[in-house]
Amino acid sequence: MARYLVTSALPYANGPIHFGHVAGAYLPADVWVRHRRMCGDDVLFVCGTDEHGVAITLQAEREGVGYREYVDRWHQEIGCTFERFGIRFDAWSGTARSPHHVEFSQRFFRVLLERGFVFEREEEQWFSEASGRFLPDRYLQGACPECGHPEARGDECPKCGAWIEARKLGDPISLVDGSRPVLKRTKHWYLDLPKLLDAGLRDWYEERKAAGAWKPNVVGYVDAMLADLKPRPITRDLPWGVPVPPELPGSEGKVLYVWFDAPIGYVSITEEWAQAQGAPESWRDWWMDADTRLVHFIGKDNIAFHVVVFPGMLLGQDADPTWQPASQAPIEPRSFVLPWNVPANEFYNLQGRKFSTSQGWTLDMDRFFERYSVDAARFHLVLTMPETADSEFRWEEFQTTNNSLLADKIGNFASRVLQFARKRYSGRVPGPATRQPLLADHEALRDARAAFARVGDELDAFRFRAAARGLVQGFADLNRFFDAMEPWKLVKSEADDDRARCAEVVERCLAHLELGSRRLAPFCPDAAARLRAMLGEAARPEDAGRWGGEGPDQPPTRLPEGAELGEVGILFRKIEDAEVEEEVRLLHERAGELRA
Ligand code: 2FM
Ligand code: ZN
Repeated sequence: MARYLVTSALPYANGPIHFGHVAGAYLPADVWVRHRRMCGDDVLFVCGTDEHGVAITLQAEREGVGYREYVDRWHQEIGCTFERFGIRFDAWSGTARSPHHVEFSQRFFRVLLERGFVFEREEEQWFSEASGRFLPDRYLQGACPECGHPEARGDECPKCGAWIEARKLGDPISLVDGSRPVLKRTKHWYLDLPKLLDAGLRDWYEERKAAGAWKPNVVGYVDAMLADLKPRPITRDLPWGVPVPPELPGSEGKVLYVWFDAPIGYVSITEEWAQAQGAPESWRDWWMDADTRLVHFIGKDNIAFHVVVFPGMLLGQDADPTWQPASQAPIEPRSFVLPWNVPANEFYNLQGRKFSTSQGWTLDMDRFFERYSVDAARFHLVLTMPETADSEFRWEEFQTTNNSLLADKIGNFASRVLQFARKRYSGRVPGPATRQPLLADHEALRDARAAFARVGDELDAFRFRAAARGLVQGFADLNRFFDAMEPWKLVKSEADDDRARCAEVVERCLAHLELGSRRLAPFCPDAAARLRAMLGEAARPEDAGRWGGEGPDQPPTRLPEGAELGEVGILFRKIEDAEVEEEVRLLHERAGELRA
């Protein structure tokens, strides 16, 4: 048994979560966590909303809403979206609501400062005389120093993607008041990434690389970044965020950069969870036990922060004795663990274009979940996940996944076996179990078990698409077995042996269906639970959360003869062509394309 601390990127409390986010950083984590738990591992799954930063303050100000009210609203809304997708975190909070987040963030900052990994620098920054405030990042608009695009922001250019030093922006204007800002000297604090790199960050990164942990997209990005690593400013002039430790001269009016405090949210949210469990110090077991495997699920735009910046911040804490509570003394100071893996995904688009809520190019969640099942959505997102390259949701492909894979392969096998048992064996597991089996382990059953075993192996390796394909293949093999055995003929035979063989076929199908329900569970938890209910006494409740070791050479154990099966229902409803056409039409209509 291993111990895993799993996080999903904290979404900004600044807008809705769409299918693209879900496919990138949340659903894979949820599927992975469910699988690990079924394998008997100890897992803590942590997430929350990222509630600071310029994007949030700017938008709240535009809407004339208080920052707190604004992030509360999105925190609530985003939490509901995760619930709809069946994504279940153990710990769910937010960086502006976790009770010790400020304390933790300031502590990280202070330790780094004391150890020389944070330094201060005086510099010129754009200042609005009209509003009497400095203008960080997106509060500014001007010409991109790289490509000349006139609507570049103070931190990056939306056209060429360049990271911009705000001072170099051409002809800047203040987006708060439209005034022309002036340059004014002020103090900021920088995280000394090159120093952290030499202090152990590079060794850790290379060691994990040698262990084969990093996906190619991670290696490509991080190798390039490390070749030219620079200190990064980690403070901002903003009225909302974690205050820079107030004892520091010049800290007034300054907060920690959102990307400094956000990942500390993983720690503070764990601590909040530990408090709620009545074991307040137990967060350290997750974050400071060398055996913990820390796994960050993220999208590709977060790679720098999870593979370089945050590990550097963790490493820079070192084995600080002051992180130890007096109650646990005397013990050896413990260090924070560094990530074991960061399975970053690429981007997930919609029908040929980027998701865009503001342009209406999105899927309406209410509409979607009124009509289609969460299981179908989850399965399709896993099957088309942007694992190694950008990928997309297409309505036609969703229909194919639902109809040809879920309904025709998985649902169909369940329904034909269960219906057959209902009709021919009064809805009970047929026997006799005592006779010498007439049926040798069939090649199609071995293939099914091999495919089901692949599901686990692929999930272990973060290959979600292949895992999903393995699941479908397993059910395809089971259908092949049913077809090859022709139980509908055997059952009508005059020969006793044929009828006994039919009973065995049905029993083997039911036993493998029970196995399939467990393989289905991480992807489609609702459908798996419904399937187990249909299996009735043939699916023991205590096995529901058990992955089990059934593989090609290990058939499932014989089901108890006479066990009563449950009511047979439809696992996956088919989606009609007309529904898909309507969805595509609506999508274009919402985007304003068909109205003209
Ligand atoms: O990209 C984003 O949505 C960020 N809010 C992710 C933060 S992840 C973590 F560091 F908190
Ligand atoms: Zn540019």
